[in-house]
Amino acid sequence: MFFLLYLIQYIFLINCQNIPDARHEQASALVGNRFYFFGGLTSQSSISNEVWYLDLSSSFNIVTPPWHKDKEMPIAYILGSSCVSTINNSIVYLVGGRMFIPNTTNLTFTSSIYVFNSNISQWTIPNITGFNSSFIRRDQMQAIINNNEKIFILGGIDFISIIRYNDINIFDITTMSWLTLPQSSSSLQCSDYAAILLPNSLIIYIGGRLPNGSHINMNQIQIFDTKSFTWSTNITSGSNVGSRAGHSAVLSMLCTTIFKF
Ligand SMILES: *[C@@H]1O[C@H](CO)[C@@H](O)[C@H](O)[C@H]1NC(C)=O
Ligand SMILES: *[C@@H]1O[C@H](CO)[C@@H](O)[C@H](O)[C@H]1NC(C)=O
Ligand SMILES: *[C@@H]1O[C@H](CO)[C@@H](O)[C@H](O)[C@H]1NC(C)=O
Ligand SMILES: *[C@@H]1O[C@H](CO)[C@@H](O)[C@H](O)[C@H]1NC(C)=O
Ligand SMILES: *[C@@H]1O[C@H](CO)[C@@H](O)[C@H](O)[C@H]1NC(C)=O
Ligand SMILES: *[C@@H]1O[C@H](CO)[C@@H](O)[C@H](O)[C@H]1NC(C)=O
Ligand SMILES: *[C@@H]1O[C@H](CO)[C@@H](O)[C@H](O)[C@H]1NC(C)=O
Ligand SMILES: *[C@@H]1O[C@H](CO)[C@@H](O)[C@H](O)[C@H]1NC(C)=O
Repeated sequence: MFFLLYLIQYIFLINCQNIPDARHEQASALVGNRFYFFGGLTSQSSISNEVWYLDLSSSFNIVTPPWHKDKEMPIAYILGSSCVSTINNSIVYLVGGRMFIPNTTNLTFTSSIYVFNSNISQWTIPNITGFNSSFIRRDQMQAIINNNEKIFILGGIDFISIIRYNDINIFDITTMSWLTLPQSSSSLQCSDYAAILLPNSLIIYIGGRLPNGSHINMNQIQIFDTKSFTWSTNITSGSNVGSRAGHSAVLSMLCTTIFKF
């Protein structure tokens, strides 16, 4: 009897195990112990509005990752960026990206920001004051949040007119207000760069594309000071890394000793 119950449970688990289709161009965010993935262009060539997460609270076999499905996004989503509120660390902000009406190939421009409350699996569209309409069709940029709940977004591509921007937009989630800093624009990066925030409030931008789409040398590092809104550049020493775009970067604690500012 116990064996039978065990067997039924086992079959039930196998049958219920959801596995997402292979995909790329999704956004991701670590929310507590949950590693979330939003949308993506799937191996079935469809643009997904799915939300999946991996539960990292206990170890697992990487051959059978413990996937969980969460509430679907109101839009199908690719080529955007996400960040997690530092105060309400259950809330994810999806910034920019290319958005479609789910299960269609129709673009939608309802909002450039979507908010996900992972506590209650709820999606909302924030009401933003001062939003800059030039941001509406931008993708392939990265959003970086600082400890004061300000999200810094460098550039992005208007994916319809293929214009690359090099401005800094700041979205303050404590006041839901938007500010464009064209006077603090980047002299190199526009899109497809990698960015990280250092503990000393500097954002490091690596690689990516120039306004004309050319790749940026990986040894030319641009640094944006989120306090003074000023830029500086630095040249790396050590290995030469080929120029590139569309990569990503993660700050490990070892890196803080490499970036001595
Ligand atoms: C999109 O299609 C999937 C699979 O056919 C379906 O499960 C889902 O409910 C659809 N979503 C919408 C918003 O129509
Ligand atoms: C998608 O676009 C087509 C062509 O413009 C239109 O006929 C259709 O109603 C749209 N579908 C939705 C769900 O908006
Ligand atoms: C999410 O849940 C945690 C734990 O219950 C709670 O402390 C936090 O305030 C909740 N956050 C939001 C935004 O609802
Ligand atoms: C935004 O404003 C509209 C109209 O005032 C309101 O219905 C909606 O609930 C607001 N959304 C949020 C997330 O506050
Ligand atoms: C945190 O979440 C609470 C509850 O949803 C909300 O009232 C508050 O404005 C949020 N604070 C920030 C900084 O997002
Ligand atoms: C909106 O962004 C564009 C592009 O950076 C800039 O030229 C314009 O001044 C901004 N508008 C406002 C009101 O900030
Ligand atoms: C793009 O711009 C850079 C810097 O102005 C220049 O060096 C490069 O030759 C340009 N590339 C193309 C393909 O026009
Ligand atoms: C790079 O940063 C170091 C340390 O601050 C500084 O000494 C050096 O002059 C900088 N190099 C360039 C090319 O800006």
